[in-house]
Amino acid sequence: MNRRACALLVFGFATPVLQLAMAQEEPKPLPAALVEALNKTSGGPHAGFRANHAKGVMATGTFTPSPKARSLSKAPHFIKPVPVTVRFSNATGVPNMPDADPNASPHGMATRFHLPGGGTTDIVAISANSFPVATPEDFLSLLQAVASSGPDAAKPTPIEQFLGTHPAAMKFVTTPRPAPESFGTLAFYGVNAFKFTNAKGAASYARYQIIPLAGEKALPEKTELAPNYLMEELPKRLAKGPIKFKVLAQVANEGDKVNDPTEVWPASNKVVELGVITLNKAVTDAEAQRQILFNPVGLPAGIEPSDDPVLAMRFPAYAVSYGQRQK
Ligand code: HEM
Repeated sequence: MNRRACALLVFGFATPVLQLAMAQEEPKPLPAALVEALNKTSGGPHAGFRANHAKGVMATGTFTPSPKARSLSKAPHFIKPVPVTVRFSNATGVPNMPDADPNASPHGMATRFHLPGGGTTDIVAISANSFPVATPEDFLSLLQAVASSGPDAAKPTPIEQFLGTHPAAMKFVTTPRPAPESFGTLAFYGVNAFKFTNAKGAASYARYQIIPLAGEKALPEKTELAPNYLMEELPKRLAKGPIKFKVLAQVANEGDKVNDPTEVWPASNKVVELGVITLNKAVTDAEAQRQILFNPVGLPAGIEPSDDPVLAMRFPAYAVSYGQRQK
């Protein structure tokens, strides 16, 4: 902005023309631009809802660490059991997205660990083992391409062009994701890598995998499913007994990229069992769901973020979306 424009603004004399010129001059910060693009792709903003993963259901329980967890990290929840709060969700910012809609997938599982002494730390995972893009800038381009590829868009549409030049995104959108039987029979992945350090100072990079103990179960393709079948099934399943997930850390080998969430590491990599999440109570308070803000990089000693640029952009974008749903 030049000096004159700045002075006019300070003294409240900005004309509509000047305001427009300034709006064009200064693009939105990336977290706000990402939330705006998420809003656009889901016909939002939808008052009171998240810009992404808008529809969800919550439960509480306990995380019990495995004796092996401390070999990876000295983080307190890997030493002693702690209470957890979990939110399962559908993808997109559409609050009434039918649970069986292909766009509801990948589903989300955000887990908050309530640490001794009052702190918290979260794992925010999806039911896919990778992300479509390696940078937040590419994520913005992907969302903008989706938003401008309506039925009237000229061929090749912006999204066709994007997918044609981004093979990881093409693979992500063409991977079949059958409707799960339940949130309790779906596997979730942390996708971004973290650096784990144990009490002896030994460090390794790893990614979370959250595997249902009831087994992964999907439904046949043409099953007729009610729009809220997943959201309604969770409390019913909990009324019959606990839902359990094994939490694993897939450790990076020499040469595995730790800052690129599009890259799937070999299934043969070492896996450390971190513990078991046991859910036993549904949360019925809608306000609790609106208020909880998960933070993938709020970490205790023993866990640090990798330098994955997608990971770094997540919390700034989540905070913008949180601000939006308070209005
Ligand atoms: C630059 C990349 C990303 C952006 C811009 C982004 C954006 C968002 C936004 C705006 C929200 C709503 C947050 C809120 O209002 O509280 C959200 C929620 C969520 N995101 Fe992301 N996200 C990104 C990457 C990822 C990745 C890599 C994963 C999984 C590994 C992921 C999983 C989730 C889940 C599970 C939720 C729902 C959390 C909840 O239940 O509150 N996101 N995302």
